[in-house]
Amino acid sequence: MNNENKKFNIKSLIKFLILGSIIILFYARFIGTNGLIINEYAITDSNLPASFNGLKIIHLSDIHYGTTINKKNLEKIISEVNNIKPDIIVFTGDLYDESLNLNDEVKNELINTLKKLEATIGKYAVIGNHDYCNNLYEEIITNSDFIYLKNDSKIIYNKDNEAVEIIGFDDAIKGNVNYNISLSDNYKIALMHEPDEIDKLTSLNINLVLAGHSHGGQIRIPIIGSLYTPNGAKKYTNEYYNVSNTNMYISYGLGTSILKLRFFTKPSINLYRLYNAQMKN
Ligand SMILES: [Fe+2]
Repeated sequence: MNNENKKFNIKSLIKFLILGSIIILFYARFIGTNGLIINEYAITDSNLPASFNGLKIIHLSDIHYGTTINKKNLEKIISEVNNIKPDIIVFTGDLYDESLNLNDEVKNELINTLKKLEATIGKYAVIGNHDYCNNLYEEIITNSDFIYLKNDSKIIYNKDNEAVEIIGFDDAIKGNVNYNISLSDNYKIALMHEPDEIDKLTSLNINLVLAGHSHGGQIRIPIIGSLYTPNGAKKYTNEYYNVSNTNMYISYGLGTSILKLRFFTKPSINLYRLYNAQMKN
């Protein structure tokens, strides 16, 4: 290869790399952050009461309102959720982003929008690290008809006197999390923001843990996975784990943090269908 040809090839390669990067950035900014994926999972467990067989849970997380999620796309997501007719809706934190100017108008807009989410049994929420940037989270979430669980739990029933317990923990980074709470012997679902916290829950015999926070890394490379995840989501970065017989699902969430980019991590919600093992056979 003569020098002229070498120069030409290097120039072409640089042009190709620059153009490729621009296309990827454009995709990650404007296409990757739009739309909605509904991930559906079937969870079969012999501990689930028969009266809860077929239960539908919608899991929303990391809305980061004010970044790539605004009123218009949040309303679209809500109408998709309501079409599924869930029994339970859970939210695992980071409702808004630290960068959001949460004035009265935005606060009311959030409440009036989230209020439209419909669930036959109830809506339950925990706080995320970003929600600690002001003291409005509890007011917004409870006025949106969510039950706010902060190191607390609720016993729920479905058509029968068999019970399921829903537990919610405070944020492990910014809050005062307490794993020393006494729980029932019922089937237990725990909500928390940071998935890595599951290692501290093993003695509580939780059946199902639902978490968020990781955003799946926001930028994922096929085969390799995420390039970066925040503290609290360093160990558990994928969508599903079984840790000491506890099933954990991590939602990659809806909005963005720091960079308004998503690549191979489209905005998503999770739909779980719970089955009692005996009834399914
Ligand atoms: Fe988040």
